Amino acid sequence: MDYSYLDLNHLDSILAIEKESNPYPWTVVNFKDCLDKGYYSLALEEEKNLIGFAIMAISTEESHLLNIGITKDARGKGYGEKLLKKMIVAAEVMGSKKIILEVRVSNTTAYNLYKKLGFEDIGLRKKYYRLPEGREDAYVMSKSLKKDIMSKFFFSKS
Ligand SMILES: CC(C)(COP(=O)(O)OP(=O)(O)OC[C@H]1O[C@@H](n2cnc3c(N)ncnc32)[C@H](O)[C@@H]1OP(=O)(O)O)[C@@H](O)C(=O)NCCC(=O)NCCS
Repeated sequence: MDYSYLDLNHLDSILAIEKESNPYPWTVVNFKDCLDKGYYSLALEEEKNLIGFAIMAISTEESHLLNIGITKDARGKGYGEKLLKKMIVAAEVMGSKKIILEVRVSNTTAYNLYKKLGFEDIGLRKKYYRLPEGREDAYVMSKSLKKDIMSKFFFSKS
């Protein structure tokens, strides 16, 4: 299992994961936009095959997990949890106070993963996601992060 930063070479594989995950998948433009903006984006590979990705906008006040996905064949084996833990550490190291995210109310798998790693419900965005017919609500979830990781390192006098 190897991690790397997401780049344009991963796009085809990410789009394939996205298409098998969402009724209205992100497009290539959405992913390129994230890369252009320099969002913190990781690829997870097994024997040189991409099996997962995650994208997060990091800021000191509030980081935002924008997307995460694991190929269908590799789900339920702990990869999503490992990848999300990397994102949490990255936000913590950069001094983020919290991570927020949205998740479809019907997406029990992702909801359970977020709960397991300490995210809490903080609200509901009505009709946030498109569906083939109509729209679906999203839970908004938040996880508070450890405060002193960054300050110990960056603000020490040595
Ligand atoms: C959500 C997703 C990233 C989880 O990744 P994964 O590798 O399948 O999950 P893991 O094997 O790491 O499981 C971690 C936890 O998730 C939850 N989970 C995983 N599979 C589940 C399932 N089939 N049903 C319910 N909960 C499940 C459990 O809490 C699990 O912990 P446990 O094994 O101790 O019970 C993955 O299923 C996926 O890519 N789904 C499609 C894309 C998506 O929905 N992304 C999130 C958008 S908000």
